[in-house]
Amino acid sequence: MEKFIRKIPKAELHLHIEGSFQPELMFEIARRNQIDIKYKSVEELRRAYQFNCLQDFLDIYYTGACVLTTEQDFHDLTMAYFDECEKENILFTEIMFDPQTHTKRGIPFATVIKGIQKAREEAKEKYGIESLLIMSYLRHLSEADAFETLEQSLPFKHLIYSVGLDSSEKGNPPSKFKRVFEASAKHGYTVVAHAGEEGGADYVWEAINELEIARIDHGNNSLRDEKLIAEIIKRDLALTVCPLSNLELQVVKDLTSHPIRTMLEKGLKATVNSDDPAYFGGYLTENFLQIQKALDLSKEEIVTLVKNGFQYSFAEDSLKRGFLKKVDEFVESFTG
Ligand code: ADE
Ligand code: ZN
Repeated sequence: MEKFIRKIPKAELHLHIEGSFQPELMFEIARRNQIDIKYKSVEELRRAYQFNCLQDFLDIYYTGACVLTTEQDFHDLTMAYFDECEKENILFTEIMFDPQTHTKRGIPFATVIKGIQKAREEAKEKYGIESLLIMSYLRHLSEADAFETLEQSLPFKHLIYSVGLDSSEKGNPPSKFKRVFEASAKHGYTVVAHAGEEGGADYVWEAINELEIARIDHGNNSLRDEKLIAEIIKRDLALTVCPLSNLELQVVKDLTSHPIRTMLEKGLKATVNSDDPAYFGGYLTENFLQIQKALDLSKEEIVTLVKNGFQYSFAEDSLKRGFLKKVDEFVESFTG
């Protein structure tokens, strides 16, 4: 099973590039930008990764991102993630980035996106890895801030496929961003949102009805509402589920009580993702390995989760068909 999981071609649909920032690279970039980190060493920083809730994590995640300053920094951060994708047989990835985390510190939008874009092109050329970008609005900031970010994104619209919504969920309902999501959709962006991670099923209802999202990020608490489950199935919306994130942020008490199998049994299209791998103890493969072990998932269930990742991605249809064919060929030829 371990070899099967490591080798199977995979897609990732929920990955915050700022959450892939490993402490070693953080210290290296801080040094070259002559920025002080309040932790003395990589080990001390890693020891601080103990979270009781989403906000605990976000506080440290935004602090870490503060050392990112130049186009080269954003390139190096993104390329480090692609290097890992290559090792893990991730053929396709949808990368979320939080422009406001950087523009609020005076870093131009152009610096952020140009650095990320350069790495995307390099990854395509060097590894053949396909990717797209999801620009996430920070929901703890105002609607006006999100509108400003939308405006800043327009010169780079050709590089961004989708907009999303992340950061502190509780107290910042999807409805707060109804108008900016409407405007984003008018500009041609496909829309997604984090919902039902810490927030309740009511937030998922809002995200699907008011923001008209094409996919749900997390969505765990949808399971509390049978009508909502039926609606999600009716609309054929996938859930980008993040097992190790749910464990580290205490969304579940342990992985054996993780709801991903229940989601599949109820007919929901769940996918497996890493969210913020540098903070939650593992990239995509590690998420698959640990959830398989905890729930004793069968090979068939793993294949379903993997195929959902490609099927519910925003990749073009021809690309999608090619990826799914690769999965089928791998499964047929795998001998262990
Ligand atoms: N930003 C980065 N990771 C996040 C998560 N799991 N939930 C909300 N916002 C985030
Ligand atoms: Zn997330």
